[in-house]
Amino acid sequence: MIRVAIIGASGYTGAESIRIILRHSEAELVYLTALPEECGAVGDVFPQFKGRCDLAIEPLDLDKLSGTADVALCCLPHKVSMGFVPKLLTAGLKVIDFSADYRLKDVKVYEEFYEVKHTDTANLARAVFGLPELLRRQIKDAELVANPGCYPTGALLAIAPLLREGLIKTDSIIVNAVTGVSGAGKNPSSKFHFPNMNENLFAYGIGSHRHMPEMEQIAGEIAGTDVQILFQPHVGPFDRGILSTVYCQPVCHSERSEESHGEKVGSEQLLRLYNDFYSAEPFVQIHKDAPAVKDVAGTNYCHIFVTCVKGRIVCFSAIDNLVKGASGQAIQNMNIIFGLDEKLGLL
Ligand SMILES: NC(=O)c1ccc[n+]([C@@H]2O[C@H](COP(=O)([O-])OP(=O)(O)OC[C@H]3O[C@@H](n4cnc5c(N)ncnc54)[C@H](OP(=O)(O)O)[C@@H]3O)[C@@H](O)[C@H]2O)c1
Repeated sequence: MIRVAIIGASGYTGAESIRIILRHSEAELVYLTALPEECGAVGDVFPQFKGRCDLAIEPLDLDKLSGTADVALCCLPHKVSMGFVPKLLTAGLKVIDFSADYRLKDVKVYEEFYEVKHTDTANLARAVFGLPELLRRQIKDAELVANPGCYPTGALLAIAPLLREGLIKTDSIIVNAVTGVSGAGKNPSSKFHFPNMNENLFAYGIGSHRHMPEMEQIAGEIAGTDVQILFQPHVGPFDRGILSTVYCQPVCHSERSEESHGEKVGSEQLLRLYNDFYSAEPFVQIHKDAPAVKDVAGTNYCHIFVTCVKGRIVCFSAIDNLVKGASGQAIQNMNIIFGLDEKLGLL
């Protein structure tokens, strides 16, 4: 059995990780930690786990952790996480970090968007971005996985085949996405508080959302060239889910590589490309119509639809931000690192 510690177990992604590990046949929870004021028996902190998990959530004790666990799912906020991850690695654990602290390779970009000095650049350099569909081989050998952001997961899966095939102008991409409120974690700001959120829908982070450089970095790696993405997030009055609509301009025939034979890209051809690209992927499904967040709620699936409209390529993806966008993807990564069936705990 893989022994799993969850650091920051009292939060939303901590709870989701507990839920998944409890039904995992080859992993067990051994240690759950939180700030002292959030500690207690799991069944008291989360009534849904009463009778299913005998552990207590305790303040982190690194001496206790060392030798007790094989892997830490680090569910802490960005900026906080980089204070804990080096200690978890030194304690001999593999670490899957949910925060943004190890995702951006360019420290300057991190410091600009997160407005804090990065304090663990040595581990940043060796962290692997944990998007299995694109980086499975690197994840397998990683000591530290930077679990992707929820928005980047949905957007990157939606456009990866187009970027890999060089089918779109890399400065033309617009990502328009709507998330459910759980994306903001358990402590809501006044904007995300129920009286404002109920029956409401609004844009935020205009031109400045922190997931924009993360999308651009990975999209650039897939395309092999710089990629510019205009990303506009919105939040809507539902618990969980992200629906992303991505608009792209196809490369003109004359600009495309010889291998593409200059064919006109049509909707049918796109669907074939996507079906081929993701044919071996257990958690990406290509659909014949636009996806919906309710269809993926509570699952690790990403549903995708791609089509052509007025000469543009339009891609849609739906994920559950807490599962494929966070805990499910982390456990998919854990399964890969430990050589287990990638689907364990996730079906
Ligand atoms: N929510 C999502 O959909 C989502 C998706 C992808 C990635 N993520 C990332 O996953 C991480 C966790 O998100 P979340 O939604 O689970 O957040 P959350 O519900 O706010 O939970 C955060 C956890 O970290 C603990 N914590 C906060 N400050 C701490 C500190 N200074 N020292 C020690 N522990 C501290 C919290 O303790 P308390 O219980 O005492 O507050 C809680 O257990 C974040 O980095 C987030 O960006 C979240």
